[in-house]
Amino acid sequence: MVTSISASFPHLILPKGQIKDGLYSALRDAILDGRLKASTKLPSSRALAEMMSISRNSVLAAIERLLDEGYLFTKPSSGTYVAEVVPDQLIHIQESSEKTTINHHHTLNINPNMDALLSSWREQACSSQKKRIFHVGVGCIDLFPHQLWGKLLTRAWRQSYYQLGQFHDPRGYLPLRQAICEYVQSTRGLNCNEQQIIIVNGTQQAIHLTAYALLQANDEVCLDEPGYDAAFNIFRSFGAQVNLIESDEEGMQISKITDHYSKSKLVYTAPSHQFPLGGTLSLARRFALLDWANSQEKWIFEDDYNSEFRYGTHPIQALQGLDQQQRVIYSGTFTKMMFPEFRLGFMVVPEALIETFSTAKYYTDVRSSYLEQVALALFIQQGHYARHVRKVRKACYERQQALIQAINEHLSDIVEVQPTDSGIHLIGWLKGTWSEQDFINHCSALDLAIQPLSRYCQITTKKAAVLIGYAAHQPKEIIENIKELALILKK
Ligand SMILES: Cc1ncc(COP(=O)(O)O)c(C=O)c1O
Repeated sequence: MVTSISASFPHLILPKGQIKDGLYSALRDAILDGRLKASTKLPSSRALAEMMSISRNSVLAAIERLLDEGYLFTKPSSGTYVAEVVPDQLIHIQESSEKTTINHHHTLNINPNMDALLSSWREQACSSQKKRIFHVGVGCIDLFPHQLWGKLLTRAWRQSYYQLGQFHDPRGYLPLRQAICEYVQSTRGLNCNEQQIIIVNGTQQAIHLTAYALLQANDEVCLDEPGYDAAFNIFRSFGAQVNLIESDEEGMQISKITDHYSKSKLVYTAPSHQFPLGGTLSLARRFALLDWANSQEKWIFEDDYNSEFRYGTHPIQALQGLDQQQRVIYSGTFTKMMFPEFRLGFMVVPEALIETFSTAKYYTDVRSSYLEQVALALFIQQGHYARHVRKVRKACYERQQALIQAINEHLSDIVEVQPTDSGIHLIGWLKGTWSEQDFINHCSALDLAIQPLSRYCQITTKKAAVLIGYAAHQPKEIIENIKELALILKK
């Protein structure tokens, strides 16, 4: 509909759709492009409605929205006017100052330890958000029972209504901590009680709290190489000195720690599924690490991020369950089994550290979201979680098989993959003269989220390889995308 409203008023075009939204956009555009100047008085709502041949209610709704958003203001007993400074100008000013912050953060007195985080974020983390398929670290989102979860959230809301205004234990909702405690005792062989469980917003927060609670600047920390880049960056951001420990076929070389880095205060490792290569720490090395930590009074951070994703084999007992002296800080996450935006996980901390970690949690974000904790407790207590885990394991196995078959059929002259009995990504070793960068450039052209192994290496990699996440996609989709990738790689 095209409507002209008066000689002194700009010509407004109402786009298709709801009239009130159309008038809102038309007035907003006229303000932004200067056809309606600052301090211009608007006709009364009645006059505007008449002139535009629309209902007065539509005019009032559009004007109210523009008033709320700051494009217009009212003068008592006078009328409605165009604002002096419109919000888009403010937004524009904020955007340009954000750029200044990024470019000149060194002149802004920002903690220099943030540099590692900032450059990693710019190079890696934010770029993977736009990709389509093969995301690393994402579980079977399509299998999650969303409707059931919605019902449990509603029930959690009804049942917690009177609890939401109260102050609770920073460690989290007790029935959830009890349910997790029982679950990890039976499935992971953990040795703990519910007092030791602290609900956190995923593993990343668990690592953060550990650094916050235990480390001072220049303290030494040992980490897997290649390893989880987020852990490396978080420890560095606390000013820690990070010692990198390489793995062989028995996993992390513990003798390197005990022989060369015995001053380290903390060892971060993923013993059940080394990230990103997927190896398992041998039993002999598990005991060697525990003996050292016990005799030297060191701490071990056990990242058990992938423990639920096992196919066919018995789960390996967690390091925490072998630990007789309470030197292990264990961390588990729900972000992989539920969905990436479900930001809940848990820590099992030694009894001597309960108060320290509760305090660290309290001064970080007080508590994790109550409602989701209540819904998760119901989800576990009613057996839905265990059922979901079984379904996901079966599907992940099939998806891994599909990926391997597709690669062997269409890409075997470029990529070599080996099956694994756990995890949600595979390592693809590149053959011939293929460099990671060449391979990734082709993947980016197809919007594939395949990552270079070098992203997780602080020391230069000897062999070129890529990480391919497979859990979030049906076999058919996996096969089609590998075929498509093969076509452009072989052009
Ligand atoms: C080694 C490792 N640990 C933990 C996590 C999970 O972190 P969060 O629970 O914060 O999602 C990831 C995520 O991909 C990971 O790769």
